[in-house]
Amino acid sequence: MKTQLIPTEQVKEAAAFIKKGGLVVFPTETVYGLGASAFNPVACARIYTAKGRPSDNPLIVHVSNEAQFSEVTGLLPPEAVALKKAFWPGPLSLVVPKNENLPEIVTAGLPTVAVRWPQSPVAQAFLESCGVPVAAPSANVSGAPSPTTFEMVKGAMLGRVDAILAGEDCAEGLESTIVGFVEGRAKILRPGSITPEQISAVLGCTPADLVYQPPTEGRPVSPGLKYTHYKPDATVKLFRSFSEIKLEEVHDHKVGLLLRGDAPTVPEGWEVLVFDDWKTYGKSLYSSFFDLDRVGCTLILAQLPEETGIGLAIANRLKKAAGV
Ligand code: TXA
Ligand code: MG
Repeated sequence: MKTQLIPTEQVKEAAAFIKKGGLVVFPTETVYGLGASAFNPVACARIYTAKGRPSDNPLIVHVSNEAQFSEVTGLLPPEAVALKKAFWPGPLSLVVPKNENLPEIVTAGLPTVAVRWPQSPVAQAFLESCGVPVAAPSANVSGAPSPTTFEMVKGAMLGRVDAILAGEDCAEGLESTIVGFVEGRAKILRPGSITPEQISAVLGCTPADLVYQPPTEGRPVSPGLKYTHYKPDATVKLFRSFSEIKLEEVHDHKVGLLLRGDAPTVPEGWEVLVFDDWKTYGKSLYSSFFDLDRVGCTLILAQLPEETGIGLAIANRLKKAAGV
């Protein structure tokens, strides 16, 4: 398939593909999304094929106004209304009852739909132009890290989609925080850059109240949680402090090192990426994986943050990348 590359000023051209039932990759503040009209089941089926995504893993629907939001949702739990008001537009997805008119393929048969109103101006202009809610998972091939730069997205999606809307590097660089509701109470199904501390402040609960305990039997609330994710080609190993690394155990590898703070002295040939703070580390995590793979690293040593604030989301992605 020929993929058209479209500059950000020409969102209408990209939206025209969506209206015709096509697939368009577009930038958001979290990661690039692989979009199709949420009300076109044939187009949505093509998303699963383009990504190699298991058919039981539902899609997030992106909206850019209240009317679109009402088209895809049913009756909202009061806590969802409060979170929507506090954090939208922004990097938060809410899992709420689906509208009966929304095609089953979008939600993989679940009675709920994950919805997000992105903040990125390009995403908003694109969604406005589409005039329909747009179902869009992250624009990576299933299992790989989500693309956060135009370079990454071209590598992943050229030849698989009708068009790619070019954009700047994604401002957050980690997928949205997903909040679902269990008996009306908010639970974090996937941590992201909206933190438990921020959410609990809005709802008047504690961060611990937001911890989701998956049921021991039956279908999990978020099917995607069970799949392997975010894996670069290189093996990923985690450390908290650089002093934990035993050089004799890694000397067979071309090593990439990701850490926060000051650059340590390392053996010759290592690729070292140092970030000033965890926010920048998280924003650059997937593009760092991509860059280190590209220069031939076979082992990525990545520093693990404390699991509070943005550190929770970073640690979540790192542990999946490392398979721990
Ligand atoms: O930031 C993001 O959320 C990006 C951008 C493009 O918006 N999208 C994204 O989509 O990360 P995806 O498909 O890669 O991850 C969506 C996750 C999956 O783990 C899926 O299982 C879960 O959301 N999900 C979708 N619908 C759901 C539902 N009805 N109930 C529970 N989980 C759901
Ligand atoms: Mg994804």
